[in-house]
Amino acid sequence: MTDVVDHPTARVVVITGAASGIGLATSQRFSRNGDTVVMLDVDAERLAREAAALDAHPYPVDVRHADEVAAVLAAVAAQVGPVDVLVNNAGIGVAADLLSSTWEDWQRTFDVNVHSMFHTCRAVLPGMLDRGAGIIVNTASVAGLVGIRDRSAYCTSKSAVIGFTRALTADYAHLGIRANAVCPGTVATEWIGKILATAEDPVAKRLSMEQRQLDGHMGSPDEVAAAIFFLASPDGRFANGSAMVIDGGWTAM
Ligand SMILES: NC(=O)c1ccc[n+]([C@@H]2O[C@H](COP(=O)([O-])OP(=O)(O)OC[C@H]3O[C@@H](n4cnc5c(N)ncnc54)[C@H](O)[C@@H]3O)[C@@H](O)[C@H]2O)c1
Repeated sequence: MTDVVDHPTARVVVITGAASGIGLATSQRFSRNGDTVVMLDVDAERLAREAAALDAHPYPVDVRHADEVAAVLAAVAAQVGPVDVLVNNAGIGVAADLLSSTWEDWQRTFDVNVHSMFHTCRAVLPGMLDRGAGIIVNTASVAGLVGIRDRSAYCTSKSAVIGFTRALTADYAHLGIRANAVCPGTVATEWIGKILATAEDPVAKRLSMEQRQLDGHMGSPDEVAAAIFFLASPDGRFANGSAMVIDGGWTAM
């Protein structure tokens, strides 16, 4: 793939959930731009492999755990440099409506999808505020904008991501911080592969997932990475507190 290189000056870009899917594509996008990419993921083995391929910095961490996140991001600041861009992308989903969700499902979904952002942002924001500049991009979902069947905790968590993003902007925009969310429709990642693998009729399930996009196609991780990259670029300067929808028209009707 050929990209325009937007940033001759390398920035330190931290990406969570970086070993797979959208996070990996985002790591590749920033890496191709010449940025210094710091990849965080709970899957240490895969993270090491993918980071080596990009000459990026791998930091294994479970983003649910405040102490681990604080220690890792302190190590990043000391060993790599101050964080210019934070992409909060790690996420999980549970296939269940409210009544079939367990409290553990609900808790785990919020711990990974939402509470992790409390931990990462509290670790990097003070430095960004000291420097009067910082960019945060949070991966939300169309599930934060519309209801999806059997995704009770997931929809609720992704709405919280959008609310959290807006609150960041409300509090810190005047201090040089830009925070935005992306809201992808269905994106062909391993995540979707796992859903299809457990479906009663995988062919019918794939078709129904494709057809939620109005052109009948899932998005690609690279397409979402391009949106995240734009929001983090100087071209995205005027975007702050936005929830950028990138969903093949799913939520247009
Ligand atoms: N794939 C889609 O259709 C889709 C659509 C909208 C939004 N999203 C969102 O995009 C993000 C990435 O999804 P994906 O499809 O690339 O998924 P994926 O499963 O391919 O990748 C997720 C990555 O996050 C990591 N991760 C999970 N729990 C973690 C934890 N506790 N600590 C650190 N890392 C952890 C996993 O190891 C994995 O590498 C998620 O936030 C997801 O909600 C995905």
